[in-house]
Amino acid sequence: MFIVSGGNKLQGSVRLSGAKNSVLPILAASLLNRGESLIENCPDLSDVQASMEILCHLGCVVKKDGKTIYIDSRPMNRCDIPDELMRKMRSSVIFLGPILARTGCVDMCMPGGCELGSRPIDLHLAAMRKMGANVDDSGGAVKCSSLKLRGAEINLSFPSVGATENTMLAACLAEGDTVITNAACEPEIEDLQNYLCAMGAKVYGAGTSTVVIKGNYELHDAVHSVVPDRIVAATYMSAVCSAGGCVTIENAVPAHLKAITEVLSAAGCVIKEMPLGIVIESYNRPKAVPHIRTAPYPGFPTDAQAPVMAALLKAEGASVFVETIFENRYRHVGELMRMGADIRTEGRAAVVFGVENLGGAVMECTDLRGGAALVVAALGAEGESRICELKHIDRGYDSLEKDLKNMGAAIKRVEI
Ligand code: UD1
Repeated sequence: MFIVSGGNKLQGSVRLSGAKNSVLPILAASLLNRGESLIENCPDLSDVQASMEILCHLGCVVKKDGKTIYIDSRPMNRCDIPDELMRKMRSSVIFLGPILARTGCVDMCMPGGCELGSRPIDLHLAAMRKMGANVDDSGGAVKCSSLKLRGAEINLSFPSVGATENTMLAACLAEGDTVITNAACEPEIEDLQNYLCAMGAKVYGAGTSTVVIKGNYELHDAVHSVVPDRIVAATYMSAVCSAGGCVTIENAVPAHLKAITEVLSAAGCVIKEMPLGIVIESYNRPKAVPHIRTAPYPGFPTDAQAPVMAALLKAEGASVFVETIFENRYRHVGELMRMGADIRTEGRAAVVFGVENLGGAVMECTDLRGGAALVVAALGAEGESRICELKHIDRGYDSLEKDLKNMGAAIKRVEI
């Protein structure tokens, strides 16, 4: 668990790790080139470990040296993912497209629901069907087969991040061109495109709502460095809003953080953007932000909803959140209320009535970003908090306590 003594102002500077949501599809994409890949700036996360285990299971040679992961996908000799590896990480569904495209078949179990809600994969499967695959998703399993995938026009009914990525990955080895419309525009999709292009694929348009993939190009070895994690940046920015202080986030990409910057500026933080990096400063009680609605990029990210909510618990006035992406993403609320927060939820809406003070409490992480929110709130509370179930946080933050300690926070991890 973490033991956090609130009240210290944060100061100094921090560098972001590579983005979890980039590195996972990139590791899956390494199957496509039947060759070697060197992926730099990989964060140290349990989800990355799980992806490496899947690659090893499939027959690849995988080595990790610090932040760099080497993959040789030439020896790949299987097309299945065992249930226990699927269960370790819901995002393992991102292996579906590349395994199918490379081997002509895939056999995995349904990823199932998670702490955020039901999380279906119908859009992923519809895209594979449109590209000519036979898909059997009965009985909790997903079995796909295809002699050769064909390029197709795929219009996503919702700009799903995972479905956009899976389609891009499958389309790289398909016969003919694929056009994805209503594609997700997240920066991590652009990062995936950059890696695919580095291995010789012809992919255009990532970062816009139309992505074009020219299929069947000869792919080769590649080197790629993972983009900095904008959700970790949003978490540290929320921590400064909560605890006060002034912190430079050295390698943050300001363009990726516009929606966060807008909300935290409205809360009274002073945020200076540099070509690469931002400085965030906050010395006064935050102001409430009347309307924060999560939406696909470039909207306000659902992954930042919990940390930003934690930053506004002591704001002057009432802040209103509307969660439009996941149906069950307020599980942190009950834990935050243990600190004296005043929050009412009703369906997809949550109203945060700012309180003058928060007190330390014993809390449990309910999910990855909800767990980070407890830390953000504890940094701004009076007294000591104990935060358990860190396995959730360890899925997505590579050095949370070390970074916060370097910024002056009183936080330590103890084994229980
Ligand atoms: C990714 C991110 C996650 C982030 C989310 C939304 C990774 C590894 N994870 O998750 O951190 O919170 O984007 O920004 O990148 N949906 C369907 N059918 C589908 C696919 C999705 O109905 O086939 C729905 C989901 O249930 C959800 C919404 O679409 O309500 C968004 O999901 P999606 O964008 O696919 O999120 P992920 O890729 O799973």
